Amino acid sequence: MVTLKDVKADEEVKVLIKTGEKQIDALAYTEHSVRHATIVSNWTGMILKETGASKKLINLGEIAGYLHDIGNSLSRYDHAGSGALLAYGILKRLGMSLSDSAEIMMAIGNHDEKNGIPVSILTSALIIADKSDVHKSRVKHKLLNDATNIHDRVNLAVNRSFVKVDKENKQIDTVIETDDKICSVADYFEIYHTRMLMCTKAAELMGYKYGLIINNVKLL
Ligand SMILES: [Fe+2]
Ligand SMILES: [Fe+2]
Repeated sequence: MVTLKDVKADEEVKVLIKTGEKQIDALAYTEHSVRHATIVSNWTGMILKETGASKKLINLGEIAGYLHDIGNSLSRYDHAGSGALLAYGILKRLGMSLSDSAEIMMAIGNHDEKNGIPVSILTSALIIADKSDVHKSRVKHKLLNDATNIHDRVNLAVNRSFVKVDKENKQIDTVIETDDKICSVADYFEIYHTRMLMCTKAAELMGYKYGLIINNVKLL
């Protein structure tokens, strides 16, 4: 069985994540390095585990989470599509079955809110994990008055974010703690509206409700 450990140790994966960082730097986007890959991998696995998925699906989720942004190595434009194809090739080379490789390809290809949709449990867990990683350490350009990058402004305000799964009440929440002097709850909601809708649909596919909690206030 191909595991997350095998994927992390793969030279091609290391090179693609590093190369993607160059692209993100040039665009002055938020951090998309091994840190983001690791967090999304952990949270995708955790969501699947807490919602009762099989060990096999949890493993696929951890791998999909780790690889989901490798498409940035080609271009940020349609990085979900290009990353999906790259991951498919790497996973086949590592010996993963065609059907499992394709399952991960589909999840990665659908993780971006611009053109993706939740099409499977794996895709849904990946979407919620990815959209929940909001944190000040992801901001590379610390200029608060840089109006061209609204994501930086919101990320800079976030001191902590995490995903909470309540299996009994069928509820998945993104929990965010912000510095409201930098960014209001309304700012966050406005900027992340599309992402939140995507998370709502993702949770629905899993039979769950999605919630967004900012500074102990339930917004969704
Ligand atoms: Fe992405
Ligand atoms: Fe991402």
